[in-house]
Amino acid sequence: MSLPSLFSSIQVGRYELAHRVVMAPLTRMRAGQGNVPNDLAPAYYGQRAAGGGLIIAEATQVTPSGQGYTATPGIHSAAQVEGWKKVTDAVHAKGGLIFLQLWHTGRSSHSSFQPNGELPVAPSAIVIEGHSALTPEWKRVPYETPRALELAEIPKLIESYREGARNAMAAGFDGVELHGANGYLIEQFLHSRSNRRTDSYGGSIENRARLLLEVTVALIEIWGADRVGVRLSPFGTYNDVGDDDPIALYSYVLTQLGELDIAYAHLIEARDGAGMEIDAPQAVDRLRPFWHKTLILAGGFTAESADDAIRSGRADAVAFGRQFIANPDLPHRLKAGASLNAYDRSTFYGGGAAGYIDYPALETARAAE
Ligand SMILES: Cc1cc2nc3c(=O)[nH]c(=O)nc-3n(C[C@H](O)[C@H](O)[C@H](O)COP(=O)(O)O)c2cc1C
Repeated sequence: MSLPSLFSSIQVGRYELAHRVVMAPLTRMRAGQGNVPNDLAPAYYGQRAAGGGLIIAEATQVTPSGQGYTATPGIHSAAQVEGWKKVTDAVHAKGGLIFLQLWHTGRSSHSSFQPNGELPVAPSAIVIEGHSALTPEWKRVPYETPRALELAEIPKLIESYREGARNAMAAGFDGVELHGANGYLIEQFLHSRSNRRTDSYGGSIENRARLLLEVTVALIEIWGADRVGVRLSPFGTYNDVGDDDPIALYSYVLTQLGELDIAYAHLIEARDGAGMEIDAPQAVDRLRPFWHKTLILAGGFTAESADDAIRSGRADAVAFGRQFIANPDLPHRLKAGASLNAYDRSTFYGGGAAGYIDYPALETARAAE
């Protein structure tokens, strides 16, 4: 048997993917009224879908208090489910698969997004320093000190993820990915820097990992373990998080997730230049011994480094972020060794069709030459 490559097929949980180029979850801040995916979203995701490929849709709040940025989509209202249905239909029409990334921003929010203008919630009342919040009017303001969640509120929080998972199924997704990365609520609980609780959700590694694991179990109850993935950024410090002993923490987390038998773990590594700098590039390799199922890696990959990662067994699949924004037909281009469109950072967030659905596919680009 030959070694797997970026373009060999792979079984991920319930699904067989035709290749290993995954579209990373990408917040685009273009949702419409009621945080419903806008009318261009089906075209955007449809352009990026191809037979047998996997897309992970952008981070999507499971409950209104989970929103931390303007115009990010939700999955807690009937209108949002309807909006997402158009997206999943467009992806399925191209033979693609699409998971939804379930999100709660925790303290990376602002009272202007919160129901009744309340303070954002978090594991502990510790403010984010060194970053600023963006209000619904796109104004940069300092983060506020969040309110620590009461122990009695945690079951309801888990329930909101379960509801989000149920709604994702109603919207026609193929699975869900828990957003446990980049300094948002789940990671705020995981990391010692942002979690100073003294109850069963703080202190020991077991306690700090409890919310992540309980939410994962709730998602499995809706979807089955073979259609649930979890995204983690073990060495990330984005949003002012960090852990004293990431290897101990994440070896425990991965071992527990392995026992839950989820479809994949998705780890972010290396510098990605998107403000999500990570202290120790390639340190994720130190966690590989603790994960025996499908591993998706993300963060600054090229066709060559992705293929190397797969051939060497560092990863089973590779997620691409910024290159997928600029190249709707990225798997095709990587396979053909074709040149890539450059991405335009100024249109990553907000706006309309420009920088969203107008990047040309290879044939279109060549025809225009
Ligand atoms: C515009 C933009 C939006 C992003 N949104 C998300 C998101 O919603 N959820 C998430 O887990 N990561 C998000 N990320 C991180 C990407 O998924 C990815 O890990 C990162 O861009 C590194 O991969 P790349 O070097 O291939 O771009 C975002 C990154 C960018 C540039």
